[in-house]
This record gives sequence, structure tokens and C-alpha cells, in this order.
Amino acid sequence: TETLDLSGNRILVSAGGTTEKLDPVRFLTNRSSGKMGVAIANVATLAGGQVTLVQTNHAVGLPVLPGIKVITVESAQELYDQMHAQVADQDIVIMSAAVSDYRAANQADQKMKKNQFSSDEGGLTLNLVENPDILASLPKEGHYTVGFAAETQDVIAYAEQKLVKKGADMIVANDVSDQTIGFNSDENQVTLVTTEGAITLERQSKIGVAANILAAVQEHKK
Ligand code: PMT
Repeated sequence: TETLDLSGNRILVSAGGTTEKLDPVRFLTNRSSGKMGVAIANVATLAGGQVTLVQTNHAVGLPVLPGIKVITVESAQELYDQMHAQVADQDIVIMSAAVSDYRAANQADQKMKKNQFSSDEGGLTLNLVENPDILASLPKEGHYTVGFAAETQDVIAYAEQKLVKKGADMIVANDVSDQTIGFNSDENQVTLVTTEGAITLERQSKIGVAANILAAVQEHKK
């Protein structure tokens, strides 16, 4: 097999789950730890790449290696802004962050009080509005784009749809119905989906998965 050598490449990676504020002390989020994205950033830097990691503030993943430029974000909108600000001149863009699909229509400036929303008066209803799709919105010219797909059923079929719909060059599909892989686990089991077909990798550490993804990108990018 070919050695992983990313020298001369600039790689932009997103990691972790975004959070959407409801009020100053409460938020909506998901179970992403950032481990998958940090593993990609670390392996890419060890392979000689120049890495920018846009990481959510709730990521509790692996330590980030020195030499990586780290940008911390909270919400999907902040992640959107930073990915767009950093995308120019990148060679590889990898969206492994788990982005909130919705945010609160209104964020309360003050802490919401329990007695403000009694059940007798219908309780509290949260109004949510859609967040932008970051991966779909990013420019695709001049770099190789990798997205992820977190699915609980028909994993490869949905990944093939996301490849087309989001304009990515590769979708890394993981079955998140199995709680021992995917979100927050140290291992993952993924299928790499491109227009050339689907390759299912063996279950392994997220560091091993990261190395395999980057090797496949190096091969396909030629
Ligand atoms: O962080 P870990 O705990 O290590 O877990 C890793 C992981 C399971 C989070 C990771 O492997 C993974 O699957 N990340 C993508 C999760 C996800 O949001 O999947 P999705 O199928 O909802 O989105 C598909 C793709 O579109 C993803 O690349 C996502 O980053 C992107 N997206 C989604 C919604 C949105 N509004 N904007 C986006 O860019």
C-alpha cells in the first residue's frame, strides 16, 4: 500500500456537535464528542498536512496535536461562518461535525422561569427553525470534499443520496444505531461512498478509520 503523505496539502476539518441556545443557561445539542473529527485532524497533521480544525466547544475528544490551527465554535451558524471563512485555498475539506438541523426561533435573553409556562396554560412550546446545510452550501471547486452520513437504517442508500444532494466527492457513512460505534465511542465502522462505489472498512479505532479515509482521499484526488 501507498504511504499516506499529505505534505503540501491544506486540510480543513470540522468536529463535534453544535449547540443551539434556548436561553443563557440551556441549549439543544447531540451526542457527538468530536473524537472522529479530531482523529482526522491529528492523522492529517502527522501525515504532513497543514490542518485547520473547526471544533465545537462541547467536543470532549482526543487531545489536538500541536501545529493544528484550532477554531472553536458553538452553534451551527458559527460553524457555517467559520467553514466559509476558512475554505479558500484548502485542498481537502472534511465535515465530520454533527450539525443541529434546527435552532430556536427565538433565544431568550434572560433565563426562562419555571412558572412562566405552567401546564394549565399549555406548557412551554419551543419553536424551531431550520439551520443552513453547511456541507451543501460550501464551494466545491479546487478541493476534495468529504461529508459524513449518520444513519440508523439504509445506511448506504442514504449516503449515496447525500453524495449527490450535498455535492460531495465522498460520503463516509456510519450506522449510528449501534451505540458501540459512531457517536462518542472510541471505535467506528464506516463505508466510504463515492461515484465509483462503496467500500466497507472493518471496525477499528477512530484513528484507524481516519487514516483509511485520508488514504482513500489521497488515492481518489489524483
Ligand atoms: O464526534 P464523535 O462522537 O466521534 O462521533 C462521530 C460522528 C458519528 C458524529 C461522525 O462520524 C458523523 O457521522 N458525523 C456527521 C453527523 C451528521 O450530522 O450526519 P448527517 O447525516 O446529519 O449529515 C450529513 C452531512 O452533512 C455531514 O457531513 C454533516 O456534517 C453535514 N451537515 C448536516 C446538517 C447541516 N445543517 N449542515 C451540514 O453540513
